[in-house]
Amino acid sequence: MSERKTIYLCLAHMSEEGVEQKYVKEAFDTNWVVPMGPNVNAFEQNLADFANAMDDGSKLDRKVVCLSAGTAAVHLALIACGVQAGDEVCVQTFTFCASSHPITYLGATPVFIDSERDTWNMDPELLEKAILDRKEKTGKYPKAIIPVALYGMPYDCERIMAVADKYGIPVIEDAAEGMGSRFNGQVLGTFGRFGVLSFNGNKMITTSGGGALICRSVEDANQIMWYATQARDAYPYYEHTAIGYNYRMSNVCAGIGRGQMTVLDDHISHHKHVQELYRQLLKDIPGITLHDQPNDGRYDSNFWLCTATIDPSVKIVGQEDAYKEVITSAVGGAAGVIKAVDSATTDCQPNDNVEALRMFMLSKKVEARPVWKPMHKQPVYAAAPAYVNGVSEEIFKVGICLPAGPCVTDDDVRYIVDCIKEAIVK
Ligand SMILES: Cc1ncc(COP(=O)(O)O)c(C=O)c1O
Repeated sequence: MSERKTIYLCLAHMSEEGVEQKYVKEAFDTNWVVPMGPNVNAFEQNLADFANAMDDGSKLDRKVVCLSAGTAAVHLALIACGVQAGDEVCVQTFTFCASSHPITYLGATPVFIDSERDTWNMDPELLEKAILDRKEKTGKYPKAIIPVALYGMPYDCERIMAVADKYGIPVIEDAAEGMGSRFNGQVLGTFGRFGVLSFNGNKMITTSGGGALICRSVEDANQIMWYATQARDAYPYYEHTAIGYNYRMSNVCAGIGRGQMTVLDDHISHHKHVQELYRQLLKDIPGITLHDQPNDGRYDSNFWLCTATIDPSVKIVGQEDAYKEVITSAVGGAAGVIKAVDSATTDCQPNDNVEALRMFMLSKKVEARPVWKPMHKQPVYAAAPAYVNGVSEEIFKVGICLPAGPCVTDDDVRYIVDCIKEAIVK
């Protein structure tokens, strides 16, 4: 029997026909090897067509601007919402740092909002409480609201938008992980003033690295495009009346994106299929609970990553050795350089059984990862205001991400679940 390959959390997956390479070759053949061009324009149109298609057959009218990263998309959306130094922005605390870091790029302050238990996403009630409290404490309303489709799960779009509209605050939907997830038959990213997409290597589709902003109006799209290309005024020489950025997507990367659009629907179906398999196979394991979407008919998650929680009572092989060794290599997909640390623990970390399961799975060539650590528990955000109910911190301690996506086969899922069973001390 051939040796088993490592099963990664979520890997890039190209079309069988290599359509991506056809468009990339076209970029070279026509010498459009620049951050604009036919691939960028066509990819933007493809994305807009996808975002505008409602389940009931009707169409929206959103525009899409392609950018160099999802993080750049968050940054420019904040600028377009008028966020400046001294302002505050409400952002989901249970997220990856790219949702909140751009707020600080602008000298503004993130106000972290905890999650509701069923979706793990921004709690609308806490959001309203925070908005009112910030107004009372600072005299100003927050300038924007950023809910996040964590692991692809839609936030409660109805209630978040109702709160935002009540106070006239623009919403920037962080749908970086939620490309193709829907709420009431409408694609995430089209509810707010802006919707963020990411095409990083691990996302639903990839351009190797890249992102996009879904915009409500032509004016917004033009403004984003202007800021993304160094904010140049119309003179025969470089004239600047605002600070801009070099955030436009390369025509080479957009070629990959155009090709990936041909497999987007297949990718989404496969993620849902993997979730369904986990649903069947994990259901009889006591203490392991697969995170699933509310089944009231409104939620249609892309299940970008499948996640589960492990009851503290579940004992895992090797648990007594969890956190004994200081980590020296990148864990959790960290690319490039990670800063060396001299302790193996922090004051807020996953339970020992979660860490033991991660290690056990690694020994079986399965990449599992803790769920994202809430931003209000990150040392770098120690001074930021936070409106919490304990939900995200509690889930952080018991949650684990399992491999998903087109590279994960049915056999892989069965193997992963068998490994989990093997890891549990009877
Ligand atoms: C929730 C969330 N927001 C934003 C981003 C940023 O996207 P990018 O990596 O393309 O900058 C990511 C992923 O990386 C993400 O997971």
